[in-house]
Amino acid sequence: MPDDVKTPPAVDEHQPLGQATFSSFADSTAEDWTKIVAAAKVFNRNHVDRVLDHLKMLEGDCGGFPVSRLEHSLQTATLAHRAGKDEEYVVCALLHDIGDTLGCFNHPDIAAAMLKPFVSEQNYWMVEKHGIFQGYYFFHHIGLDRDTREQFRGHPHFEYTAQFCHLFDQPAFRKDFDSMPLEAFERMVRRVMSVPKNSIYNRADSDNALG
Ligand SMILES: [Fe+2]
Ligand SMILES: [Fe+2]
Repeated sequence: MPDDVKTPPAVDEHQPLGQATFSSFADSTAEDWTKIVAAAKVFNRNHVDRVLDHLKMLEGDCGGFPVSRLEHSLQTATLAHRAGKDEEYVVCALLHDIGDTLGCFNHPDIAAAMLKPFVSEQNYWMVEKHGIFQGYYFFHHIGLDRDTREQFRGHPHFEYTAQFCHLFDQPAFRKDFDSMPLEAFERMVRRVMSVPKNSIYNRADSDNALG
């Protein structure tokens, strides 16, 4: 680098405008929140990177399954993509098991909560309930009722969710599958998760206070 080109100062993305000074929310001021919102907007720019980094944590973890949890996720998304499902659906397929590391006893809730601001109510329901619907294919092997999903029979999203598990989730454990790499899905995830449609921080004008 030539001597006359100065290296830009490092940006502390957590403190772009300094820090608020309150010790309780009740004492906070609009000036404090201007700083916090500015910091949040910078931090939120890397949201999808953090999501993808977390998904990568499923690599190498087989948990006794024939393939790693990441490979299973890639196969599920690849099957959905090749079946012509739209981008939002494919992203749901890719991330449906992202909660495996943190939600050992309720993993679908983790993915559903992460996707909720960005997807339709139908896709949210599908991701949230996929654990119960997936159980149709194995619950009877571990002393559970494979028909647990029947409690939702007649629900408008029953068949939609059953189809997801039948076509894309339960068959996605092949050792010889030519799954698409994670990089092939990155731009889809960025597009789907770029603007929250349903967030408590959305203003009346549909702008997001933190986005
Ligand atoms: Fe799952
Ligand atoms: Fe799965």
